[in-house]
Amino acid sequence: MQEVIVKRPPLTPATLWDIDYYKEIGLYFYLEATQDILPNGRVNVEHYGEMIMLGSYSYLGLIGHPEINAAAKAAVDHYGTGTHGVRLLAGSLVLHNELEARIARFKQADDAITYSSGYVANLSTISSLLRKGDTLICDKLNHASIVDGCLLSMAKFTRFRHNDMDHLERRLREANGDGRILVVTDAVFSMDGDIINLPEVSRLCQKYGAYLMIDEAHSIGVLGETGHGIEEHFDMPPDTIDIKMGTLSKTIPSAGGYVAGSQELITFLKHEARAFIFSAAIPPTSAAAAKAAFDVIEKESWRVRQIQENYNHFASRLREAGFDLLYSETAIVPVICGSTDRGVALAKYCQDRGIFVQAVVAPVVPEGLARLRACVSAVHAPEDVDYCANTIIAGGRELGIIE
Ligand SMILES: Cc1ncc(COP(=O)(O)O)c(C=O)c1O
Repeated sequence: MQEVIVKRPPLTPATLWDIDYYKEIGLYFYLEATQDILPNGRVNVEHYGEMIMLGSYSYLGLIGHPEINAAAKAAVDHYGTGTHGVRLLAGSLVLHNELEARIARFKQADDAITYSSGYVANLSTISSLLRKGDTLICDKLNHASIVDGCLLSMAKFTRFRHNDMDHLERRLREANGDGRILVVTDAVFSMDGDIINLPEVSRLCQKYGAYLMIDEAHSIGVLGETGHGIEEHFDMPPDTIDIKMGTLSKTIPSAGGYVAGSQELITFLKHEARAFIFSAAIPPTSAAAAKAAFDVIEKESWRVRQIQENYNHFASRLREAGFDLLYSETAIVPVICGSTDRGVALAKYCQDRGIFVQAVVAPVVPEGLARLRACVSAVHAPEDVDYCANTIIAGGRELGIIE
């Protein structure tokens, strides 16, 4: 008897945007590979050559810092390249404990836990802490890793309009019940560059008996006079935030994520968070680089001042020229272009003129709010900041985005 072969449906569902179309018309500039890291926030990119890097999360320009590189090299000589597996069993190194103590000191917390990425730090912390009967309340623009953690937790998941404190209060009032309430928000929003209203969020959390978790992926090294983050920015006490999450992959030029908080919280997470229990420890090089980077931020505080200066200059030039930058106040500058076509066209205009910048389009951001996501860094030379502003303004005029 002849065997019946069942025809399979396509392995991949339809993509949310038309990748092939943008490739065909030459407007696709994603996954382009950097060959060399050059001084002053420049890079050498395969097929393109030297470019000003205007899309990097390395806000303080610490990638390649000699002290951080030296720490990573020393860690290889001392510990080798891997660990012995998961932290709870054989994978813990003295270096991990030192890194966690360093993070706790930087964030003025009792202790800290590190995970293999910022994404899993959010996913695992939220989903292990919150249970059925609890309530999670998130800002609408929170990062995907927070959303995924909420979905995995089985708690009731609600959202408030972006940075809208009246709406947050409504959500808190609605949540009042038997379970625990956790409000989670980004400190700096990754696509808009604005800052959560921490004083008001904190007041409302206290009023309604809710706990507070803040993701500092884009605020460590950037916010506050000495780069210690959002509490320093608002001059608030270190115990304002119950769960202080951050990543080691942006200002900190390494890989990994962390949560800092009370001893009780960290002990719980080290024995209950699935990504800590079932996933290997971060490698010695990453841990050593991250630890050294916290020292460098404190020693070289000129970098924190310089990024604010570079941002102020860049953003005011674009705003004066008529660009809408939303409510950005930090190193992330959303240059609003309108339609997806306009966003990718302005990005291409800049890329052709030696600027590495990406368009962020729907569905990552709302339809009609496609943008260049430009990030200034502390090490960009003033003439490069001006060159980027001049080019974006000229491109914006040529494409009819501004007058
Ligand atoms: C706000 C925010 N949280 C978490 C993450 C995830 O961090 P990581 O890249 O270290 O996984 C990101 C990454 O872009 C982010 O922007």
